[in-house]
Amino acid sequence: MDRFIIKGGRRLKGHVDISGAKNAALPIMAGALLAGGPSLVLRVPRLADINHMSQLLSELGVDVSRTDSDALRLEVKDESSSHARYDLVRKMRASVCVLGPMLAKRGEARVAMPGGCAIGSRPIDLHLRGLRALGAQIELEGGDVVAKAKKLTGASIFLGGPFGSTVLGTANVMMAAVLAKGTTVIESAACEPEVADLAAYLNSMGAKIRGAGTPRLTIEGVSELRGAQHEVIPDRIEAGTFMVAAALTNGEVKLSHCCLDHMLAVTDKLHEIGVIVEQADGGAVVASARHLEPTDVSTQPYPGFPTDLQAQLTTLLCLADGNSAITEKIFPDRFMHVAELMRMGADIRKEGPTAIVTGVKRLVGAPVMASDLRASASLVLAGLVARGETAVHRVYHIDRGYEQIEKKLQPLGAGIERLAE
Ligand code: EPU
Repeated sequence: MDRFIIKGGRRLKGHVDISGAKNAALPIMAGALLAGGPSLVLRVPRLADINHMSQLLSELGVDVSRTDSDALRLEVKDESSSHARYDLVRKMRASVCVLGPMLAKRGEARVAMPGGCAIGSRPIDLHLRGLRALGAQIELEGGDVVAKAKKLTGASIFLGGPFGSTVLGTANVMMAAVLAKGTTVIESAACEPEVADLAAYLNSMGAKIRGAGTPRLTIEGVSELRGAQHEVIPDRIEAGTFMVAAALTNGEVKLSHCCLDHMLAVTDKLHEIGVIVEQADGGAVVASARHLEPTDVSTQPYPGFPTDLQAQLTTLLCLADGNSAITEKIFPDRFMHVAELMRMGADIRKEGPTAIVTGVKRLVGAPVMASDLRASASLVLAGLVARGETAVHRVYHIDRGYEQIEKKLQPLGAGIERLAE
């Protein structure tokens, strides 16, 4: 297990290229199960989660290969297996999004039921409700979800749950509905850009999806889909993480392949805190005068402030001049970073799903433990600004979702090194 050693206090300056979005690439890869021919997906980041999805798809008869550093070619060769094993699903929850396409294309799917994870309990009841509405018969057998349907039929489906819309649930039901007989309407669909990107890929394969990016999707079923070429959208969470890094270190960083249009809630909050984010040809420039104002923020489904940037924003607000309240409305228990940040001198009090952060003058380096992907990112950020040395252990969590983050931080002037444990 690798760890990062970070020498804090260096100002970040320079340029960073943002990778394609993990959370768009994963369901798009699963979407390739629906096609009759090869697909070429461009700007697929090199991440542990992408490797897990490639392995899962290979077991499901898909030939997956990297044609160059950022392109993946996917072609279905054998449709005889439809079992996503617990071993793989356990490693990566997004494996669940093979359920919809396998059911639609192969008439059956057996997918291990994902358990909870470090960010809390993560049910899939809405996925199953949507697939049942399309006519699937679904049972739970030995910890696997077993779904069967000779032919799916379009239906009107309300997909809202207690915490709002569901990203992968929408992806699953949408991928099942594209091959269903007749028209499907999904109401309370997730509006995340990653869902819209999946819809764009499916449409280029011949699907008929309207309303992507809005809460109401209308899908006219078609009889077959062909392979297609598609470029994955930029990763707004990686971009937001680098924006916070620039802000924390009083730096000035230019981000290319950064779509500010997907980040309004984030840039609006950063402006309120005193961080300058400006559009610059094909990307953005971020600068900060290092006087950070406190603020209140609640995570929300898109277009609200993303839960996947909550931990990173918490680190930023640790150094603001006053009290901030951060409320987690998507995953109320997603606060594993708090105790670790406190080891570095942060002043944070938890009250239910809210963290009350009182700004401190400085953070101090310490050994800390990464617990999940975004929590780990928040600890790396803290290390970049802390006085002295920070060791972030278990960085395999961060490798799941950030493409060699240390290699992107080093040219900006960060003192970060990866060591084998
Ligand atoms: N929910 C239900 N029932 C369901 C599905 C979800 O109650 O059937 C609840 C969840 O418990 C949660 C809320 O609905 O409270 C939203 O969950 P959602 O289904 O949208 O999450 P997800 O699709 O499993 C994706 C991202 C997560 C991101 C969330 C929220 C991928 C691969 N994962 O997960 O990304 O936090 O949407 O935006 O797209 C990450 O990248 O670090 C990450 C965790």
